[in-house]
Amino acid sequence: MKSLSIDRVKAIAAATSTWRGWDLLGVKTRRAPVPWQLTEVIAEYLSGLEVILDMGCGNGKLLAQLANGFTRGIGVDISKERIDEARLSLPIMLRTRIHFTRASSHKVPAPDAAFQVVLNRQAPLFPAEIDRLLAPGGYFITQQVGPENTRAIIAAFNEARWPLPPWPDEMLLPNTFTTLDTLGYRTLRSDEYDVPYVFADAESLIYWLQMVPVPQDFNIESDAETVLEILDRLTTPNGIVTNEHRQLLVMQKPT
Ligand SMILES: C[S@@+](CC[C@H](N)C(=O)[O-])C[C@H]1O[C@@H](n2cnc3c(N)ncnc32)[C@H](O)[C@@H]1O
Repeated sequence: MKSLSIDRVKAIAAATSTWRGWDLLGVKTRRAPVPWQLTEVIAEYLSGLEVILDMGCGNGKLLAQLANGFTRGIGVDISKERIDEARLSLPIMLRTRIHFTRASSHKVPAPDAAFQVVLNRQAPLFPAEIDRLLAPGGYFITQQVGPENTRAIIAAFNEARWPLPPWPDEMLLPNTFTTLDTLGYRTLRSDEYDVPYVFADAESLIYWLQMVPVPQDFNIESDAETVLEILDRLTTPNGIVTNEHRQLLVMQKPT
């Protein structure tokens, strides 16, 4: 017996499509404890003096959260909407030290060796550009969505509609590691976790499916039946249970 009707799923999709951003109280998720917090990992490599770059910075929150740890920060993102959002949400007292620029991470408007730290959280990777921009001895720190992320949800969709994320192999973590390793970078940390992740209600799951989106061509009109199947299969007394897979890499450029 199905928990919701197709019409109810579509009504939830219509209601949640007006939500904005990830920080709204409407999205209710829980995650099992994880072995690292990215901001804490990054802070280990900051002394307060660095000039730092965030490639694919999105709404810019990562730089704002780390602001006490560096002198100057630049965030680049290919999306005008994300850059506008990052500029608007940046606290006024940080505006002299943190700047956001619309650019692709494959061609960042900055001189060679301009940064002591280059960050990338869940955005496409361009190893040659990372290497060009990092100063000798500088750190490259990235956290990426792992290939096993939310596997029980992804499995409901036809494999032809993957991949997630939608970037080609050369922009993913394995190629970046190999390229930088070949250039003599030292691996300081390589880690991953795969832990239970719970959407508390159908609204939170349906919002996530539409906003990521999963898959890229997700369409509630044609996918409502699949959403019902996911809800029926994964709903437990504790919520809609899936998993979160993340990978972490910290490398240091040779001096
Ligand atoms: C999953 S979001 C992560 C955003 C941010 N790093 C965070 O952790 O909140 C991926 C981001 O990569 C950006 N992006 C995609 N392709 C890009 C490219 N070629 N150059 C720069 N940014 C890109 C997207 O616009 C998006 O903001």
